[in-house]
Amino acid sequence: MAVTDEQQPEQDVEEEREAPPQLDPEVLARRRAALAHVRQFGDPVLRTKARPVERFDGALHEEVRRMQALMHDALGLGLAAPQVGVSHRLLVYRVEPDSPIVALVNPEIEWSSRDEEISEEGCLSLIAVHVDVERPIAVLVRARDEHGEDLVIEATGLEARVIQHEIDHLDGVLILDRTSREQRKAAMRALREAEQAAGVA
Ligand code: NI
Repeated sequence: MAVTDEQQPEQDVEEEREAPPQLDPEVLARRRAALAHVRQFGDPVLRTKARPVERFDGALHEEVRRMQALMHDALGLGLAAPQVGVSHRLLVYRVEPDSPIVALVNPEIEWSSRDEEISEEGCLSLIAVHVDVERPIAVLVRARDEHGEDLVIEATGLEARVIQHEIDHLDGVLILDRTSREQRKAAMRALREAEQAAGVA
């Protein structure tokens, strides 16, 4: 999941606009380099249900470290393995800028609140898109950490939202599927325009 104005005004990083002056050019260059490794809308891996992780070995630790570094450099709040082309049920996220980036392996939502809330979301795989998404306010998630230890996470607010957004990626679901028909149409238009501007249409 990508930051939006609403969530983190101090990190205004909407890609389709001019770079905000407070962002260091080096930070922006690193972000651009990281985004080049993130699969974009249209890549079939983003629509594929990811496979459970079975081995908690060095290769998994390496994958986690790579995703953490990419998410950090891309200024994202979360990143799921399919977004880097790996069909694994693995995600990383961080909602507080200075806290460690958490890795969740084989996460399952065990409970979600009946109360829902609408908020704007962006996605590192849908760079030109910000849409309103309604989601449960609180969730209870069971997962493993990268060493195979059990994790139970009770999350609310932004943390709950980011985890749900990333778990959606593991099931091939995107924010376009979770917004209104009108916003989806506008988003598809923005994506087409962005493609044309990039000369790949
Ligand atoms: Ni996303």
